[in-house]
Amino acid sequence: MSRQTIARINLDAIQYNLGRVRSIAPNSSVACVVKADAYGHGLARVCSALRAAELLAVATTGEAAVCRESGWMGRLLLLEGPSNSAEFDEMISLNAETVVHHETQLDLLRQRHGQINQAIWLKIDTGMHRLGFPVSDVPEVYAELQKLKGAERTVLMSHFACADDVSNDMTRRQMELFEQATSGLQGPVSLANSAGMVNFRDSQRDYVRPGIMLYGISPCKRKTASDIGLRPAMTLQCELIAVNQARKGDTVGYGASYTCPETMPIGVAAIGYGDGYPRHTPNGMPVLVNGRRAPLVGHVSMDMITIDLRGHTEARVGDKVTLWGEGLPIEEVASCAGMIPYQLICGVTARVTARVE
Ligand SMILES: Cc1ncc(COP(=O)(O)O)c(C=O)c1O
Repeated sequence: MSRQTIARINLDAIQYNLGRVRSIAPNSSVACVVKADAYGHGLARVCSALRAAELLAVATTGEAAVCRESGWMGRLLLLEGPSNSAEFDEMISLNAETVVHHETQLDLLRQRHGQINQAIWLKIDTGMHRLGFPVSDVPEVYAELQKLKGAERTVLMSHFACADDVSNDMTRRQMELFEQATSGLQGPVSLANSAGMVNFRDSQRDYVRPGIMLYGISPCKRKTASDIGLRPAMTLQCELIAVNQARKGDTVGYGASYTCPETMPIGVAAIGYGDGYPRHTPNGMPVLVNGRRAPLVGHVSMDMITIDLRGHTEARVGDKVTLWGEGLPIEEVASCAGMIPYQLICGVTARVTARVE
């Protein structure tokens, strides 16, 4: 039997989480964010699970092509838009909508306006200072889009920098600035990512753009996924490939960073940083062995981790080890590793077998 290091992908959970999005934002259309291989869950399979979405949103034309190849015929949005004329051509042939956030993209639109037949999403920088037109340019850019043949249907959008933290007043300031920038302009509005739609309900507007919460992960600093009623879509698992008795004073793994305080069983499980498990993981990071918690000890290697099995004297080679997902919230694992859950799910490598449930 092949190496049992698997990412179990639960498509029902993704559909269920889309249902949660709808009940949290009942008056908004949902643009499901599926960039970065659907946050590591497999873009083609997630596209088919999200057939009920109004729109799928991706970062690149390559990702948009995968959506189309998987049979998605619905609305498709390029969140960064084309950055050159080749990408512009791909966008047109994929029948995708685009975000316009920069003067160079306006130039492309000016040159090719007769070819556009989809809505344009005008991105306004309200404080994130990453992508978007400055507030002062908005009336002029909007007026130009209204005049460009094919580009008259304009969605007004912005993106939040700190919406995961309900106590941070930056989100309110961004919303106020957006209101000033768009006062008197017509068109649907899209502001909220997952954190925005949960923490700031009045940011929901015409379209919400959830990503992380579709995959069952809390977007908020002070709320768990179960507080929001989300179900994890990825469970990362492997098996014990050795159970060894170590003696008091023995050290474990590279760098001899863990010293056994007594004679104790050490489990070796078949996952490492070569699979996307975080290398900078402290002693004590929780994993589940046969569904019960056990602490990781020693450094993570490329293919293996080592586990203190003192509370699991029954554990044997072949037993299941869960790294995150069902029974072990990824938010806790990420925080222990000094990371965010986004990094963990996007970082699972091709060596890990995806098993769709
Ligand atoms: C413009 C935009 N909207 C929405 C999202 C979705 O964000 P989240 O996964 O936090 O819901 C992203 C993701 O980075 C984004 O870049």
